[in-house]
Amino acid sequence: TNNPKAVIVIFGATGDLANRKLYPSIYRLYRNGKLSDNFAVVGVARRPWTNDIFRDKVKESIDNFDDPHIDKDEFASHFHYNPFDIQDLEHYQALDGLIKELDTNYQTEGNRLFYFSMAPNFFGTLAANLKSEGLTQTEGWTRLVIEKPFGHDFESAQELNEQIRAAFTEDQIYRIDHYLGKEMVQNIEVIRFANALFEPLWNNQHISNIQITSSETLGVEERGRYYDSAGALKDMVQNHMLQMLALIAMDMPIKLTPAEIRSEKVKVLRALRVFDEKEVDEHVVRGQYGEGTVNGEQLPTYREGHGVDPESNTDTFVAAKLMIDNFRWAGVPFYIRTGKRMEKKATKIVVEFKDLPMNLYYDKEHDTKPNLLVIHVQPDEGITLHLNAKKGDYNASSTPITLSYDNNAKDKMNTPEAYETLLNDCMHGDSTNFTHWDEVALSWKFVDVIANVWANKKANFPNYKSGTNGPEEADLLLNKDGFEWWDVS
Ligand code: BG6
Repeated sequence: TNNPKAVIVIFGATGDLANRKLYPSIYRLYRNGKLSDNFAVVGVARRPWTNDIFRDKVKESIDNFDDPHIDKDEFASHFHYNPFDIQDLEHYQALDGLIKELDTNYQTEGNRLFYFSMAPNFFGTLAANLKSEGLTQTEGWTRLVIEKPFGHDFESAQELNEQIRAAFTEDQIYRIDHYLGKEMVQNIEVIRFANALFEPLWNNQHISNIQITSSETLGVEERGRYYDSAGALKDMVQNHMLQMLALIAMDMPIKLTPAEIRSEKVKVLRALRVFDEKEVDEHVVRGQYGEGTVNGEQLPTYREGHGVDPESNTDTFVAAKLMIDNFRWAGVPFYIRTGKRMEKKATKIVVEFKDLPMNLYYDKEHDTKPNLLVIHVQPDEGITLHLNAKKGDYNASSTPITLSYDNNAKDKMNTPEAYETLLNDCMHGDSTNFTHWDEVALSWKFVDVIANVWANKKANFPNYKSGTNGPEEADLLLNKDGFEWWDVS
């Protein structure tokens, strides 16, 4: 088989992400026959765990899987723990020794995948030491998967990038944006470019506006310390929201190669209008949740949260009107909206088509709607198309109808998880669904202006109740253009 063979080295092996996402994803790959037996995982972290403790944790993380033909002990036996101090060069030698031993035992052909899943302030040192101690030098391939946050502004991102690039080449680096691993985000391109129906209409002649919403019901929970210095703009907009925007707005690539797709995405980000400071208020709305009820539970304000400054100026909600200044999109607003503690957990993209120049069937009573294409990213996965048609009655009026395709109808357990897909891609050397430095750089430049304006002006927070769709200004942002957020299924 051509299943990948590799030693996967996870830095931050005792962390939350490893537990919640990485181990279950490796298990799913294993279960689904996407991994050969030629793989080993080295868990690296500070704690003095043993292999046994580590394997027990791994098994706990896959507790809710129940596959009769999989022996979980056999699976866990591929996992090895290596206690580690990032500053201590001797520890790198010991780690190298372990990787080599596992390489021989599991016949992984010298392939190494380093996964950085810990506090980002160590990324640079770690990369430099891996190189200086010779761990990046191997007979097989070496790849680096790196988690967000990739910097906290353009400058810090650039510095981090330089540090990493001193140890790894761009084509060895896989920057994670887990939204790119989501089934329906990957589907954006397919829906757009495999259907004769949409592409001819996909421009400012026929589309009036596009809305991308990613709302969450959770607050910042235990992540207050990180989140309070980040906020929704840096946590969600710089990466996930702008990546979805790039996919929805890009031109058709010449070929489906990583380089061609990336080049089209980069062009969108280059055309994205960077506001000047004076324009920020007019285009961007920030919010922070106050108390309120979510799913029947009365919850406190953001500022009362664990690890949060009681006078915090941090945004937990962002809505913005973005403009892409190119031939295809001139004049079409792209509205984005994301926040914590909102009414529901949902990510969707709504494409609103322009009204016909004259609609004989326009019917106020039945509320004739514009045509909408909705891409449901999560928790529902699918697409719906909102049209108008005559519904059996005596009138010649039109009524809204919807055509829908529900991706969830498939066996849910078998739809791959974002991290599963991304790990698999990386092990096959496919960087399509990872972010290139150029994309990261352009996104930060866009975000930095807004962040600066906000940092210099205290907001009147909290300004939305938990369990709602954010501050009123977010609605006004569209209303003043004659639009509204579509909350359609
Ligand atoms: C992460 C953010 O990147 O994405 C989190 O750091 C956020 O704050 C999460 O909750 C949302 O991801 P998903 O897959 O649940 O939509």
